[in-house]
Amino acid sequence: MPTLPQVFPIQAAHAPYRRHAAADLQAGKALFATRCASCHHVGRNARAGFGPQLNGIFGRAAGSTTDFQYSDAMRASKVVWSHDTLRAFVRSPGKVVPGTKMRFWGLGDDQQITDLLAYLETFR
Ligand code: HEC
Repeated sequence: MPTLPQVFPIQAAHAPYRRHAAADLQAGKALFATRCASCHHVGRNARAGFGPQLNGIFGRAAGSTTDFQYSDAMRASKVVWSHDTLRAFVRSPGKVVPGTKMRFWGLGDDQQITDLLAYLETFR
C-alpha cells in the first residue's frame, strides 16, 4: 500500500459527544443491515458491491480498497478512517468528502452512530 501523508482534515478528536454511553452491538448490527448493507459488505468474503467493502475500516486510508472504483473526491481526500472521521462521515458524507458519490442522507443520532461504529469495529 502506498504511504499516504498523515493529514487529518477532520480534527474532531475532542468532540464532547464521544462515548457517552456504552455501545449496543446488536443495535449497530441492525442499523448496518438497514442503512448500509444495501451498498456495503463486511465479514468473510466481503468485496465491493455498490460501495466498497468495510472490513478493517478503522485506520484505513479513504479510497484504498483495490476492487472498487472510487470517486476522484474520495481518492484525493487524504482522510484516514477513525472514530472521529467515520462519525463525521456517517453524519454527513458530503461535509467530510465533498463530491463523494456515496448517496446517503446521514445519521443524526449520536447513540446510533456509536452503536454502528462499534459493530463495524468487530470486522478487522
Ligand atoms: C446507496 C449506497 C450507499 C449506502 C446506503 C451507504 N454507502 Fe457508504 N459508500 C457508498 C459509495 C458508492 C461509496 C464510495 C464513495 C466515493 O467513492 O466517493 C461509499 C463509501 C463509504 C466509506 C469510505 C470507504 C473507503 O474505502 O474509503 C465508508 C466508511 C462508508 N461508505 C460507510 C458507510 C456506512 C457506515 C453506511 C451506513 C450508515 C453507508 N456507508 C451507507 C455507498 C453507500
